[in-house]
Amino acid sequence: MPIPEYTETGAAVRYHPPVGEPATIVTALRWDEGLELLDQRALPQRERWIPIAGVAAAVRAIRALTVRGAPAIGLAAAYALAEEVRRDPDLGRLRRAARRLAAARPTAADLAHAVAAVMAAVEAAPAAERFAQALAAARRLHAADAAACLAIGRQGAALFPGPVALLTHCNAGALATGGIGTALGIVRALHAEGRLARLYACEARPVLQGARLTAWEAGRDGIPVTLLADSAAASLLASGAVGGVVVGADRIAADGAVANKVGTYALALAAARHRVPFVVAAPTTTFDLACPSGAQIPIEQRDGEEVRRVRRTAIAPAGVDVYNPAFDVTPPELLTAIVSQRGVARPVTAATVQEIA
Ligand code: MRU
Repeated sequence: MPIPEYTETGAAVRYHPPVGEPATIVTALRWDEGLELLDQRALPQRERWIPIAGVAAAVRAIRALTVRGAPAIGLAAAYALAEEVRRDPDLGRLRRAARRLAAARPTAADLAHAVAAVMAAVEAAPAAERFAQALAAARRLHAADAAACLAIGRQGAALFPGPVALLTHCNAGALATGGIGTALGIVRALHAEGRLARLYACEARPVLQGARLTAWEAGRDGIPVTLLADSAAASLLASGAVGGVVVGADRIAADGAVANKVGTYALALAAARHRVPFVVAAPTTTFDLACPSGAQIPIEQRDGEEVRRVRRTAIAPAGVDVYNPAFDVTPPELLTAIVSQRGVARPVTAATVQEIA
């Protein structure tokens, strides 16, 4: 089965499956008359699309994880900014809105990148053309991310010889990007080549992006998937059943340190102990060469209720103190490779990271 191609067709980047194949790849967001987000809080039980009227609604949606995943957050912000320009093209107002948007979540580098790209287009245009330019900039970002996912998928798949079972964490798939996904782009490329033995997906407590989103997304596309509790990952790696770990990233520092969903660092430690290759996949919008090392990456701390509850059900004493970082940092020496659309950094050093950023 060939790897699917993306083309830009008017309002949105659409997935064109191979002839005869159903179009099953999901999308996190769409723009027809305006921006709509697939409500990822409701998955997998309900597929509900939510219209986003402008920046205030987008900030709420990004904080609430209605849309999540670094590239998808950036794209949602880009289209939301275009909505805001349509409402009122006043530059002072838009600059304030852009600052609020960029600060909605602190760790993902893609958010600030997308906001800056749309604002650059807006600032350069006369008032009457600002909306068209903002929307065009958002669509360019969307198309670029879709293309980046395909390139990452091809190059990442080539790192794994023969049939392979992979382990992933959180959701770095179509739901987290503007295309087929980063880590799941690699998984999809291997699956398309007939070389994916199985995808293992950690559930990713506390918000369960692996259980709710990756297992659902993979199942929709016929990818054989096995779900595991995060605490089962080390023994899975020790068992030899897995030939590689593939994850996404929220920010990659100049030294190659990677911030990603909390639990990634523990996986990388276990993978190193059992000599399982550990590959990070991310588009260039996730790299932050101005950030010298992992110690400077801002890590979002989230509400303790996410840990005290599983969805609406309390599982801990009310009000118990909670440690709930959304992300952790994996040092470069634990990584086998980082893949972007520009190439593969292997080994991961400041010099190789710079080449693919
Ligand atoms: O809190 P989330 O769901 O936004 O965290 C998402 C992740 O950590 C992803 O792995 C990362 O953003 C890469 S998505 C291609």
